[in-house]
Amino acid sequence: MTPNILLLGGTTEAASLARALAATGLRATVSLAGRVARPAPLPLPLRVGGFGGVAGLVDHLRAEGVTHVVDATHPFAAQMSANAAAACAETGVPLIALTRAEWRETGDDRWVRVPDIAGAVAALDRPAARVFLAVGRMHLAAFAARPQHDYLLRLVDAPVSPPPLPRHRVVVDRGPFGLEGDMALMRAHGTEIVVSKNAGGTGAFAKIAAARALGLPVIMIDRPAVPPRPEAHAPEEVLRWLGHGADLGV
Ligand SMILES: NC(=O)c1ccc[n+]([C@@H]2O[C@H](COP(=O)([O-])OP(=O)(O)OC[C@H]3O[C@@H](n4cnc5c(N)ncnc54)[C@H](OP(=O)(O)O)[C@@H]3O)[C@@H](O)[C@H]2O)c1
Repeated sequence: MTPNILLLGGTTEAASLARALAATGLRATVSLAGRVARPAPLPLPLRVGGFGGVAGLVDHLRAEGVTHVVDATHPFAAQMSANAAAACAETGVPLIALTRAEWRETGDDRWVRVPDIAGAVAALDRPAARVFLAVGRMHLAAFAARPQHDYLLRLVDAPVSPPPLPRHRVVVDRGPFGLEGDMALMRAHGTEIVVSKNAGGTGAFAKIAAARALGLPVIMIDRPAVPPRPEAHAPEEVLRWLGHGADLGV
């Protein structure tokens, strides 16, 4: 059977895999949720938007004759990962996830670990501070419960409507970010606390390294649970799983 791969993307790692897949000449399509206005160009055909839950994804896999699904979504995209696992189980389409290791606290870090966004909001129940709220645009509304803080928001796109936080500054930028730049940004804002998801990987790590270098506390949000599935940690492992590693000498 000729492979026809569906790559669930939206991450730096998915973009790397897309480039590796394109180099093999295998048939593959990247799927994005459509959250970002101008996604970085990829060398594979693109589809954009939700499938319509598990049932919609099952229909898509059947209609498109998908032979393999690679879930390279962000570790906090737990709904999509759960849907992919369920749809692949229902259709018998093989699934692999391209994942990245969590960040680990070192002796030089000052982390407060919380289980979820609500835990981060609870941890900010304290006197006003200057907070680098690096959680992306989707969860800003939850922090309206802590209006006393002065928030630094870094977003991929300029917000269409103002974030519901009375005191905030928006920086529009997309990763990968660097240590020096993030230290300069946090110094300019006078950041006292960083709030971050434990995304793992390198593209978003600079703010954690910058907090470490500046001696700042980080409210670190643990990853949501996702169903068990086979995992790869590098594009080459996915190519091997697809049976194409040898072609590339990997
Ligand atoms: N969450 C983060 O912090 C974060 C950070 C960076 C990048 N991203 C990327 O942004 C996208 C959305 O993340 P999220 O946290 O909103 O996801 P989510 O909560 O797990 O997904 C919500 C719904 O969005 C749709 N969706 C998500 N990813 C999709 C994809 N790659 N292709 C097509 N539909 C998708 C699905 O809709 P249907 O049920 O209708 O199919 C899914 O049920 C993901 O692709 C993820 O890789 C997320």
